[in-house]
Amino acid sequence: MRNNMQYSKYWLNGLSLAIQLAISGAGFLEQNYPPSVIEDAHLTTLELLAKYNYPNEAHFVTTSDNYILGMHRIPRPGAQPVLLVHGLLDSSSTWIMMGPQSGLAYYLYDSGYDVWLGNCRGNTYSRNHTSLNPNKDRAFWNFSWHEMGIYDLPAMIDTVLDVSGFKKLTYYGHSQGTTVFFVMASSLPAYNDNVHLMNALAPAVFVQHTKTPLLDMGLSMKNVFLTDNGPSEIMPRSEMGLDFCFMSSYWLKFCMRFTRLLFGGNGKSHNKTMYPVMFGHCPAGCSTLQVNHFLQMVRSGRFRPYNFYLKRNQRIYGTSKPPDYQLQRVTAPIALYFTKDDFLTVPEDVQRLAKQLPKVVVNHLYENPEWNHVDMVWAPNLRQEAQPQMMANSKKWETTDE
Ligand SMILES: *[C@@H]1O[C@H](CO)[C@@H](O)[C@H](O)[C@H]1NC(C)=O
Ligand SMILES: *[C@@H]1O[C@H](CO)[C@@H](O)[C@H](O)[C@H]1NC(C)=O
Ligand SMILES: *[C@@H]1O[C@H](CO)[C@@H](O)[C@H](O)[C@H]1NC(C)=O
Repeated sequence: MRNNMQYSKYWLNGLSLAIQLAISGAGFLEQNYPPSVIEDAHLTTLELLAKYNYPNEAHFVTTSDNYILGMHRIPRPGAQPVLLVHGLLDSSSTWIMMGPQSGLAYYLYDSGYDVWLGNCRGNTYSRNHTSLNPNKDRAFWNFSWHEMGIYDLPAMIDTVLDVSGFKKLTYYGHSQGTTVFFVMASSLPAYNDNVHLMNALAPAVFVQHTKTPLLDMGLSMKNVFLTDNGPSEIMPRSEMGLDFCFMSSYWLKFCMRFTRLLFGGNGKSHNKTMYPVMFGHCPAGCSTLQVNHFLQMVRSGRFRPYNFYLKRNQRIYGTSKPPDYQLQRVTAPIALYFTKDDFLTVPEDVQRLAKQLPKVVVNHLYENPEWNHVDMVWAPNLRQEAQPQMMANSKKWETTDE
């Protein structure tokens, strides 16, 4: 009898807590953030560009293995083209979503460039294929960032050069957007000649010394990712992050703590008013194999293609382990930019990369102690503290005739 009563008391407490959460949840977002910010959290890349009065175009690019990528352009025909490529679980919106006062893409366009924003296979804007259906066919998700490097980047670079009529572009990549560049430039070295300068923001090539305490969680979840059912999509863009993290200030704190454990930093560098925009655009979806491929890099300390089981390695690579990417073949000039408190791509690992690349022309550690992995694209003070320098470095190589 007493037990029953106790149980029902717990049950009622639980129920009233849930109701309180639901009530406080409804409206927390609306009560605490400007309508324009909430709107930005929901818009697409092209809609954001239109809202802030920038010209915008969509280009569909088909890769040689039949994926269809949605590229975005802030067109300035006749001007020097730049290609910007996002990181893992991110998309073209990463370069503009923090607004015209801080987004790199806006700055480059305003400074006279023809700006192209890439989207790698599987994210919000590149869930498309000539025959496979991403919602139904597991085979669609059968890729890692290796395929982005050897198929997606070449297709995007060819498109930018074809449409613009230029022979070379300037490249900016963030995190995985650098990984895929180094895959391409070492596997298909002819593309090095199409690049004035590769600006590598928080470069992710060696990640052995990654500091995130969430790594163990990732490694144990690996078994969840890779079931016998084969590869699949994880964390597509959805309302979930917004709904969950903006139920109340308690849940928002929880979400921010989680992101700090993942990316590093103390959170002070962020514009708190823009939190809904971050969670509205990111994550933007990827394949389970991409995440697992990064986890393999952490464990092996090597930069190499996907490690399958022994027999399949032997069939694909002719060796029991995949061979390392040949970084000495990356002959394009490289500018490395990295931050102190980045938990994912720590300065020590970036310096290991610097030693192996034949043509590092800039090797810059940002001293700002608050900047973390994503601040290279999202920090409000990038315009003052980083972007002019990146553009000056690029201009120097754009005007160097070789
Ligand atoms: C898929 O690509 C085609 C162009 O080949 C485009 O017309 C269509 O809108 C794309 N679909 C999606 C969902 O992106
Ligand atoms: C993934 O691709 C490989 C070849 O690269 C193939 O052997 C395998 O069967 C594919 N798996 C799925 C689920 O499509
Ligand atoms: C933070 O974001 C809000 C909303 O976009 C903006 O009005 C404000 O100027 C931003 N603050 C800083 C310091 O960038």
